[in-house]
Amino acid sequence: MCGIVGFTGKAAPEATEKCREILLSGLENLEYRGYDSAGIAMAGEGEGITICRAVGRISNLRKAVAGCQPQGSCGIGHTRWATHGRPTVENCHPHEDEKHSVAVVHNGIIENYQHLKEELQRSGVEFNSQTDTEVIAQLLAHHYSGNMKDTLQKVLPLLEGSFALGVLDKNQPDCIYCARRRSPLLVAQGKDGSYLASDVSALLAYTKDVTYLEENGIAVLTPDSIRFYNENGSEIHPESTHITWDATAARKNGFEHYMLKEIFDQPTALRDTLNHYVDVELGCIRREAMPFTPEQAKALRRVTIAACGTAYHASVMGQSLLEQLAGIPALAAIASEYRYSNMPPVEGEVFIAVSQSGETADTLAALSYKKAQGLRTIALSNVLGSTIAREADAVMYTLAGPEIAVASTKAYLTQVLLFAILALDLAHLRGVIDDAKLKEGIAALAKLPEQVEEILAKQSVVQDFVQQQKDCRDIFFIGRLMDYASSLEAALKLKEVSYLHSEAYAAGELKHGTIALVDESCLVVVFATQTVVLEKTLANMEEVRARGAKLLLLGHFPEGAPEDCSLWNIGKTSDQLAPLLTTVYAQLFAYYMAKLHGCDIDKPRNLAKSVTVE
Ligand code: AGP
Repeated sequence: MCGIVGFTGKAAPEATEKCREILLSGLENLEYRGYDSAGIAMAGEGEGITICRAVGRISNLRKAVAGCQPQGSCGIGHTRWATHGRPTVENCHPHEDEKHSVAVVHNGIIENYQHLKEELQRSGVEFNSQTDTEVIAQLLAHHYSGNMKDTLQKVLPLLEGSFALGVLDKNQPDCIYCARRRSPLLVAQGKDGSYLASDVSALLAYTKDVTYLEENGIAVLTPDSIRFYNENGSEIHPESTHITWDATAARKNGFEHYMLKEIFDQPTALRDTLNHYVDVELGCIRREAMPFTPEQAKALRRVTIAACGTAYHASVMGQSLLEQLAGIPALAAIASEYRYSNMPPVEGEVFIAVSQSGETADTLAALSYKKAQGLRTIALSNVLGSTIAREADAVMYTLAGPEIAVASTKAYLTQVLLFAILALDLAHLRGVIDDAKLKEGIAALAKLPEQVEEILAKQSVVQDFVQQQKDCRDIFFIGRLMDYASSLEAALKLKEVSYLHSEAYAAGELKHGTIALVDESCLVVVFATQTVVLEKTLANMEEVRARGAKLLLLGHFPEGAPEDCSLWNIGKTSDQLAPLLTTVYAQLFAYYMAKLHGCDIDKPRNLAKSVTVE
């Protein structure tokens, strides 16, 4: 939810300016993760710790920094998405102890912070904020042994919950102390000093080789070294990860918003992801990239999938693809619900966690729950080395590249593609389809990027339609089978970027009550790609037409649209793949409706890109 950065460089005449700029520009790269307030703390020899904070965007923090002029070549920074306490300057990070000897930035939630706070207050400690993070700063000062690494070793076990921490100690002004549990944190050694960040995009301008802290791990950064320790305090030497993204890949490439850039990234994202798992020329699967051996595929009896938001909608698609293509019973569940289920494991069951960021707390909790049941676990994630990717037994990465817009688009499409590839692979390994059918399936997947390009080339059709929807306030998305999953995703996309109320409905369910809401003020978007129920879906469309609703039909209708109905056509493909194409129209629709209403498309109100709190 929040963003963390840190830098410690060699003392030099321009060190202060360099450190300030690295912190502020790093925070600007992380603003999408959470942004209602921000702050930095800097330390220097003989300077003590100076903290500058501001409510709102990083531009406000820049003004505050120009005013308070923090000194030193070592610092930490934080952008906040409020979880405890309203977005005020007092609640901004960094937080410090009452003697200004320790400064802390934190991402996560300390669940027992009230109890710890009361204990400290009983021993006379005075607090300035309502946050759980200040409790960490006060605890570290209270237990300070003269060595911050040892103090962390002592204090961390007292904390219940999740944390990624950056800590400054007044007595060691060129050191940054880091620790993490369930919230992501990575460090890197650059030519100018050592870096800390909660997200790789804050560091790409300086280095591509990063090291993720292990669970309950600690790291100590100095200008020319980084030392790692495990939870027992023993020094360890973890592998670094080479990031293939460059800083420009995360920029907008000339589009007005990241969301539109990422919608137009989709043909490339599909091609890159497909080519990693499939040899399109030979029409075969790259065995080494897949998470199932032939023996594991044959032993498989059930797949359970859990995720949140858009990743959950991709999971619902995955459930249909696994059942329809491979004949494997599958269940897609909402992670924040499923993590509390007491379903006993089934012989031959495998669990899949789906997460673009790989850091979503509820999905991680569902993964931990299934691991505790002894199940084999697989992660589908878009972020190399993310927590969910590292916690699972195996991982399939979507190769969508950095997804910066809060509204997930290319990650969703490539998640569904991964499920299609997985379903084809399992079907082939289990003898459900032969080599010829596998080749046919792969050929259909290989056509998708071009079919998406054809839709993107028609974006003006969407823009023109949207212009006629200025007064539209109630929008229903309806469909059957996989088209219902498309409706769920289309409704969420529209809501989260345009703030318009919309609802997804199984088309067959409308007549059981909700159709009472339908009148001439409604727009009903009908997804109609599933052949087996096509007639029934079109009949549902007639039901809402009879109530005066405006109609928009999405599917493959070469003969044109029924009268009084707008039509967005997709190319011919299988029922299983058609939803990947209609979704692109739905994404463009959401984007242009948000633009029509002047919304902050890449950073919608109340939302953050990665929901690392429960
Ligand atoms: C998607 O547009 C939303 N921003 C949100 O629902 C998101 O999909 C959800 O929070 C899950 O995120 P994850 O894929 O990173 O786990």
